[in-house]
Amino acid sequence: MLQVSERVKQISSSERSQRKIVIPQGAIRMDIGEPDFSTPEHIQEAAFKAMRDNHTHYGNAFGDEELREAICFALKRDYGVDRTIDNVLITTGGIEAINTIAATYLNQGDEALILDPDYSGYADAVTLFGGKPVYVSLTSELRPDLSAIAEKITEHTKMIFLSNPCNPTGTVLSETELRALAGVAHYHNLFLIVDEVYHKLLFGNTAHFSICQVDEIQDRAIMLNSFSKTYAMTGWRVGYLVADASVIRQMVVFHRAIVSCVNTPSQKACVAALTGPQDCVESMRSAYDERRQMVEQKLQEIETLSSTPCQGAFYSFPRFSQSMTSKQMLAYLSDRGVLVRSGSEFGRNGEGHIRLAFTRSKEELEEGMTRIKKALEDLD
Ligand SMILES: Cc1ncc(COP(=O)(O)O)c(C=O)c1O
Repeated sequence: MLQVSERVKQISSSERSQRKIVIPQGAIRMDIGEPDFSTPEHIQEAAFKAMRDNHTHYGNAFGDEELREAICFALKRDYGVDRTIDNVLITTGGIEAINTIAATYLNQGDEALILDPDYSGYADAVTLFGGKPVYVSLTSELRPDLSAIAEKITEHTKMIFLSNPCNPTGTVLSETELRALAGVAHYHNLFLIVDEVYHKLLFGNTAHFSICQVDEIQDRAIMLNSFSKTYAMTGWRVGYLVADASVIRQMVVFHRAIVSCVNTPSQKACVAALTGPQDCVESMRSAYDERRQMVEQKLQEIETLSSTPCQGAFYSFPRFSQSMTSKQMLAYLSDRGVLVRSGSEFGRNGEGHIRLAFTRSKEELEEGMTRIKKALEDLD
């Protein structure tokens, strides 16, 4: 039998890798972290046209120039910041971007701080490239804790990873919080990697402040984004990194080695996504918002669940009071016909939580919440 490398063995035991999706018949899926909408038609059309126009060859390793221009245009439009195409690297989704950062900047034993809980892809990438994920607990309100972060910094610390809006907690950092984090990264000479893949999914009066807006730290800030969630394009596999031009030139080396370049017609579709009409983004956002309000109202009716309102992304992250692990709760709810994600997949501090996604119709989610309520009442 051929032996798997130690590197891959290390990540194959993570909860993220081990997650088995058994879908019981008739189960309501509140576990899926991807839009249930189809990619808007004008974006699909742009891909058809790109293929007919023979954009079917290898492309620039940094990414299609037109797409990098479009990203600079969107950064100016959304955040008022000036960037050039030299600040942008197109990647095969956000997940390759995360792995490219880890591969480029971590040596064996280097430490990467990961807020706990946060997206489980960071720890796997850090581990895969010989680094050590160091988890930093969030506050009880699920927000970054600056003194806890400072305490975990050692001479081996190289970077801090976080998502904003956060998967799984649904929190969005204020400008003050982000600037404070940037101050810590600046002081300790660390890369600050802010994953903004949910930046357009905001609720209530929440505003998004991008790491690209913090001038003082642009030599060590890496903004990570993707077309997956904003434009319902998970299968097209396009993401991007925005950073100092010298950082981009360093990262393209690994990126080119593993993918050569990103799918060419997909990149043309992404140009249409950014430069075309944005009402599709708003109509998907408002559908998630309606679902979110319903789910949060139902959560309030369940005595054994407590949660903070979701400010962004499409998740609720309630804590349950039953004395079970998150994995046991996931298995129990699955038996009761509703699939959720275990909070512990996102870090030790996610233990005692479940993650609910609003990526199904309001009617399905309503049924899911009814099942959860009944299942939890039956435990009391
Ligand atoms: C916070 C976060 N970052 C990155 C990704 C990766 O997304 P993709 O590779 O589809 O761009 C995800 C996917 O769920 C995510 O939740």
